[in-house]
Amino acid sequence: MKKITIAIDGFSSCGKSTMAKDLAYEIGYIYIDSGAMYRAVTLYSMEHGIFQGNQINTEKLQKEIGNIHISFQLNPETGRPDTYLNGINVEDKIRSMEVAFRVSPIAALEFVRKAMVAQQQEMGKNKGIVMDGRDIGTTVFPDAELKIFVTATPEIRAQRRYEELKDKGQKVSFNEILENMRQRDFIDQNREVSPLRKADDALLLDNTDMTIFQQKEWLEEQFNKVVNE
Ligand code: DC
Repeated sequence: MKKITIAIDGFSSCGKSTMAKDLAYEIGYIYIDSGAMYRAVTLYSMEHGIFQGNQINTEKLQKEIGNIHISFQLNPETGRPDTYLNGINVEDKIRSMEVAFRVSPIAALEFVRKAMVAQQQEMGKNKGIVMDGRDIGTTVFPDAELKIFVTATPEIRAQRRYEELKDKGQKVSFNEILENMRQRDFIDQNREVSPLRKADDALLLDNTDMTIFQQKEWLEEQFNKVVNE
């Protein structure tokens, strides 16, 4: 069967990663969470004095961006890939609210995006990859054979994220998450470099009222249509 590239873009916490990971597992493709890469750069910045209050020392980050190496390794316990920053597993750290609050301005920096896009294109050069993010279908893999753009209401997305963090034992408030999500949506859609937008040839999926299982079935159907064309 021919191997293709699958790009799954959309708003934060709309279930992109879950559906992308599940599909990759089912069809034996590599799964890459590109948001984890921007989160890892943010964590690096927090740990290396690049944030001064809310200000970012862009000069310092630009000098150090070449030293930031991000990779993924399958975690045998979860069956899913964990994110490594310069060889250290940072999967839990990058999911914290501190990182969530700081990631958007980092992801808006052109030199950061350039470095991450280059790493992402390298990871996908042999196809057989499912990558999720904000600009995968528009910038990273504009020629992807299957592109999906996922959306859901902010309230539903905040609820899903709230439950996910609560399950992990993190103390967070629903309103704080909703506010953070609205801010990130705004920055992601309005930044100058690669703003979040649906590629013209992407299929739109609004999963507000869908179960994970329904989503999974829908996505597999789209995949089968493309590979059997
Ligand atoms: O999907 P996520 O919430 O883990 O993404 C974290 C941040 O990274 C989010 O604010 C948007 C940004 N991002 C991006 O700009 N481009 C991508 N391809 C993926 C994520």
